[in-house]
Amino acid sequence: MSARIAAPRGTFDILPEQAAQRDLVERTARELLEPAGYARIETPAFEATELFERGVGESTDIVQKEMYSFDDGGGRSLTLRPEGTAPVCRAYVEHGMHKLPAPVRLYYLGPFFRAERPQAGRYREFWQVGAEALGSDDPAVDVELIVLLHELLTRLGVPARLRLASLANAQTRAAYREELAAYLHAHEPELAENVRSRIDLNPLRAFDSDDPGTQQVMAAAPRLIDRLDPDDAEHFVQVRGLLELAGVAHEVDPALVRGLDYYTRTVFEFTSETLGAQSGVGGGGRYDGLVELLGGPRTPGIGWAAGIERIILASDLTPPTALQPDVYIAHEDRRTAAFQLLLDLRAAGLRAEMELAGRSLKGQLKHAERLGARHVAIVEPDGVRLRDRESGAERMLSAEAVLDHVLAP
Ligand code: HAM
Repeated sequence: MSARIAAPRGTFDILPEQAAQRDLVERTARELLEPAGYARIETPAFEATELFERGVGESTDIVQKEMYSFDDGGGRSLTLRPEGTAPVCRAYVEHGMHKLPAPVRLYYLGPFFRAERPQAGRYREFWQVGAEALGSDDPAVDVELIVLLHELLTRLGVPARLRLASLANAQTRAAYREELAAYLHAHEPELAENVRSRIDLNPLRAFDSDDPGTQQVMAAAPRLIDRLDPDDAEHFVQVRGLLELAGVAHEVDPALVRGLDYYTRTVFEFTSETLGAQSGVGGGGRYDGLVELLGGPRTPGIGWAAGIERIILASDLTPPTALQPDVYIAHEDRRTAAFQLLLDLRAAGLRAEMELAGRSLKGQLKHAERLGARHVAIVEPDGVRLRDRESGAERMLSAEAVLDHVLAP
């Protein structure tokens, strides 16, 4: 026997019982997003590496160490998509979607790839459902999207806490980064080594540290939320007001750090205690500069993505039980007649299965019981013996009459 080959670390198979659960998540997302005007878009599983370097940001963990990049054979670097926002904006520009009436509302559902250290809730290939709205900076769009994600999690039984912040605009943030970097340099001896070494690369990540010394320094650090210019501050006030109107509870978290560089103004994250260390079940924010950064016209945008696996881990979804066959067709060496009956019953829309594993007649009847088949049709030389499995009632019928009897109420 040859040695077995296992699935790569951090990946998983979706087995039939799990597929039913995922189907429920996907259906719920579609039923929620489509009536709200979101249309499905799917982008390729791999893109030019430059899209993520430019879009997600050179200093992010994703670009620095989590991308699966490879040569396309012609000297061009491609990358398995680690996230969906940069690709959607790339498609928006490529297809001239700025000419469509704004906002352009899009959603997607598919696999994403990050070379992270695998653990519960963190995989190297995982699925996201995401939604993006491009072309409007109205705070009502921010809240529309947050409400949709909140509703999705609620419908799926995922208790989650909403944290909210504003990351201002690029200029304010650049000035703030300098202020924060100067503050961190002034406290270098108290900081963890991995924070100290990244002060100039990405000082904001210091808020993420679980090192107690760093946390103490960060508690007194200057906060971006206190540095918003009047327009951004007003935008944030309006977002909060509309969230209140929508009845979605939130807390402002000035230390909310998102792992992507494209964000401006509103950022948010839903976290679920039940998930342990990987508590982020879904998150997103506004990215008013991203389309322009990717060569398109100046276009505001906002969106979110939620992890399908994390939703399932945090939810109380019971997978729907497998559907039982209407008819199980049993036979002894009468394959042709049995197969013809199978075709006829399926053509009429019935769930029918036939014996295919060489069981004895006794074994077939047992198997029909295991499947929970409503009827067993035993193909015999002079007709079909149709048995109602529950009542045990039996009758001999012509093959043509089986369908009518099964369909009869
Ligand atoms: P993100 O926070 O990086 O945002 O990912 C969104 C969600 O994807 C997370 O909350 C988590 O549920 C799931 N996720 C991320 N990485 C993994 C992983 N390794 N294993 C399992 N699940 C994971 C984005 O990707 C942005 N594109 C969201 C966005 C859309 N912002 C604006 N528009």
